[in-house]
Amino acid sequence: MGTENYSVGLYPGGIGCTMRTEFTYTDVGNMPYVVRFADPSDAASIVSLIRAVGSEDIYIANEDDYYSADQQQRILSQMNPDVQMVLVALSGQKIIGTLEAVRGTFRKNQHVATFGMALAAESRGQGRGAGLLRTMEMWAQQHQIHKVALSVFESNGAAIRFYLRHGYAVEASRPQQFYISGHMVAEVFMAKYLAAVSSPERQ
Ligand SMILES: CC(C)(COP(=O)(O)OP(=O)(O)OC[C@H]1O[C@@H](n2cnc3c(N)ncnc32)[C@H](O)[C@@H]1OP(=O)(O)O)[C@@H](O)C(=O)NCCC(=O)NCCS
Repeated sequence: MGTENYSVGLYPGGIGCTMRTEFTYTDVGNMPYVVRFADPSDAASIVSLIRAVGSEDIYIANEDDYYSADQQQRILSQMNPDVQMVLVALSGQKIIGTLEAVRGTFRKNQHVATFGMALAAESRGQGRGAGLLRTMEMWAQQHQIHKVALSVFESNGAAIRFYLRHGYAVEASRPQQFYISGHMVAEVFMAKYLAAVSSPERQ
């Protein structure tokens, strides 16, 4: 994965700082792809991507009733950037992946963010999820978030291996939480602990 980064704007990056909004990575075939913070004009593409992945039925819980493009656009326009963050990955001009993270909103859990992510079918297995993950982790560190967490179907072995490869560990499992393709499936909870970033609030 490459790390050629460049700035096209600034995004609130936690207490008293900003962070870049766009990053270029290279995939396993050495092809560049971009990960950037989503803006409201990405809403329709994000909704259609999530719908497509949801319709595959085996990777994410979303079904047909995912947000409309209008609702997604409102979320992207109105969200609090210190709490919620949406990324898109692009190959050329096309959105091929997305990641959404939300941190805890209380002092008791603001150090934790949970996230979900998905790539379009034709973009999987090429090392492109890595850029989304890495960008989310940078955002988390800049916000003094030191645990990033997700849940995944136990039947989604490719995703579980992907997270393990990127330093995530299984923390718990909730049996029979989903019914997928005729089988009861556990929800597996995974997390990664990020290096501490000093913050005035926590010193
Ligand atoms: C899980 C995901 C984010 C990983 O990102 P990625 O860029 O594909 O990651 P990698 O390139 O490292 O490949 C991950 C695995 O997918 C496998 N893979 C390859 N092509 C694939 C394809 N067309 N479809 C599904 N998996 C594929 C890879 O071989 C690899 O498996 P391995 O660990 O056995 O080698 C991405 O595959 C994805 O969005 N999958 C569908 C949605 C999903 O599962 N989201 C996560 C829900 S928690």
